[in-house]
Amino acid sequence: MISDEVLIRFLSDGSFHSGADIGLQLGVSRTAIWKRLKKLSALGLAVDSVKGCGYRLSQKVELLDKDIIKTYLSGKAKAVIDELHIVSMTDSTNNYLLERLKSNQSLAVANICLAEYQSSGRGRRGRAWISPYGSNLYLSIDWQFDGGVAALEGLSLAVGVVIARSLARMDVADVSLKWPNDILIKGAKLGGILIDVRGDHAGPCRIVVGVGINVNMSKQDVDIDQLWTDLKSICGDVSRNNLAANIIEELIVLLATFESTGLKPYVAQWQRLDAFSGKLVDVIAGEHKISGVCRGIADNGALVIDSDGVKKQMHGGELSLRLSNES
Ligand code: BTN
Repeated sequence: MISDEVLIRFLSDGSFHSGADIGLQLGVSRTAIWKRLKKLSALGLAVDSVKGCGYRLSQKVELLDKDIIKTYLSGKAKAVIDELHIVSMTDSTNNYLLERLKSNQSLAVANICLAEYQSSGRGRRGRAWISPYGSNLYLSIDWQFDGGVAALEGLSLAVGVVIARSLARMDVADVSLKWPNDILIKGAKLGGILIDVRGDHAGPCRIVVGVGINVNMSKQDVDIDQLWTDLKSICGDVSRNNLAANIIEELIVLLATFESTGLKPYVAQWQRLDAFSGKLVDVIAGEHKISGVCRGIADNGALVIDSDGVKKQMHGGELSLRLSNES
């Protein structure tokens, strides 16, 4: 049986190929090809099928490639990566690394997982992260922290800053951040960050930082209940391999130094990137709502809200923030 990658590479040239031709070139039956294409289509990879012409991918697909990613990485980054796992499908790249942690692993170095497709991509607050095949970036990296959970305060905000830097390096303009961990362009969600922690909350713990960036989200079948965007609509084709390498490079520097620096070196840049600075917002915690003007973040990463002249610091992963005029 041929792999999804082989078939996708074959169909990536933009031309139509008949089922018979694909079968002949790849040494598999037409029925097998048809079944495989149907499956990929169901996973979010748009395939054009035209009677008399055959099949082609509706859009150009650049598959993730370990060797290409490595060519973009510095020697320093490569030296701390234990393994760069590129998988075709997984439930969630965060889960993939968390599973591996259960059964070992060399803790002194980082493991990275990138997937073409996530069947149960996870977002914040138990939400699903829509992860169509071969379209976006689903990336996770694990790291060892010795100082316990307290040393991680504000980490997701710092991750947002370095992702904004990676995007700026690729000439992506207008990126902003929404507390605690949304990456926006012109007010629409481009990506998000999800951090899982395992181990001793007071001592050594292992974290997995997951990053999802919409690169080329096909408009078909996308059921996302908030305003979203992708890099393709903003600035055309962006190489997923290059983007992955840029983010990995920045994340490694951040993770290697965060325990000693904390959030402090990132606070000023976070404030500059703050999408909601000076805006009237509602902060929702379960049944409770607090309204006020957004005043950025405190040095510990808490959201600062000016509510009736009183500055309040708000913490916690379960909080949700929205502009007051949004319903
Ligand atoms: C959010 O904004 O709600 C966070 C989204 C995080 C999505 C990424 S995709 C890679 C990693 N694997 C997951 O299951 N989730 C994160």
